[in-house]
Amino acid sequence: MSAQTPDLHVPDLESRITPGLEVVERRLLDAVSSSRDLTDELTRHLAVAGGKRMRPLLTLVCAQLGDAERALDEQVITAATAVELTHLASLYHDDVMDSAPTRRGVPSAQHLWGNNRAILAGDILFARASLLVASLGPEMVTHHARTFERLCEGQLNETFGPTDGTDRVDFYLQVLADKTGSLVSTAASFGALLSGAGQLMADVVSDFGEKVGVAFQIADDVLDLASSGEQSGKTPGTDLREGVDTLPVLLLRRRAAAGTIDEAGARILSELTGDLSSDEALASVVEQLRRHDVLEETRLLARTWANDAVAALAPLPKGEARTALEAFANLMVDRLV
Ligand code: IPE
Ligand code: IPE
Ligand code: MG
Ligand code: MG
Repeated sequence: MSAQTPDLHVPDLESRITPGLEVVERRLLDAVSSSRDLTDELTRHLAVAGGKRMRPLLTLVCAQLGDAERALDEQVITAATAVELTHLASLYHDDVMDSAPTRRGVPSAQHLWGNNRAILAGDILFARASLLVASLGPEMVTHHARTFERLCEGQLNETFGPTDGTDRVDFYLQVLADKTGSLVSTAASFGALLSGAGQLMADVVSDFGEKVGVAFQIADDVLDLASSGEQSGKTPGTDLREGVDTLPVLLLRRRAAAGTIDEAGARILSELTGDLSSDEALASVVEQLRRHDVLEETRLLARTWANDAVAALAPLPKGEARTALEAFANLMVDRLV
């Protein structure tokens, strides 16, 4: 693993899945490498830079719900690798869309190679994910394709924004469910389905994954403001500069519309409409948002989604896998990066 496996409070389960995560890591590095040196550096760039690998981790934890002898089956490993590859592909594309200078602590692919090459690298990685999923049969191919379709719809809807009369916070939460929840959900259900846990269990962890994904992405909005660039590996305030209203800003706008906004909040909204191209201007708005209580409101919302995710696990039998999933949900919102 490039990142340390997080503590899921179930050492026995963790020691069972660690060898699986190591195999996934090797498969992933194989999959991002091609035969051509020039493209290799580009397609390997983000995988070797780091990343938490939380989606393959979730697949392997959910595979603990099925038959013990299938928990680290070839199919489970393949699915976990494909899920991370799909995520990687989406990161190459996302950094182009967001003009993000850094990712995983290194300059983003588009920053080093330009938009065209970064987009094509993302396409290649998605193609390689599809190749892996093809070995899992047509049902999994459909599941994977639907997931990527939803992920792209979420990314697209984010750029279009809500239509008139749509609640902006609700719209945003749907975007998060689509762009992030969809793949986290699939990571979980692949593990359950391919280990033979059955459709019922798969549906439960799918629902769990979707909610955890939303919680995670809301926590990401908080971290984008509250953590330093060194901690997150990304540039704080990137979304603000790009004019993307993340949840803290949307909650401020909601207060403004309801006439309940305070002076500090109104100042933030007004500065957001100004020129944020200088680092000083951006840092100033980030700092004001950090100090505003809307950040705590956002944190609480992330916590509520994580709690709902844990509640969705109720039909699962009590045991190590369920405990690990609960710990996973909590980690997603309590994380530092
Ligand atoms: C980043 O995902 C993109 C989002 C959906 C917020 P991660 O935070 O899982 O990124 P890595 O894989 O650890 O870099
Ligand atoms: C992450 O979206 C990319 C996908 C979910 C496909 P964001 O743009 O919100 O996340 P970061 O902050 O760049 O990781
Ligand atoms: Mg982004
Ligand atoms: Mg984005």
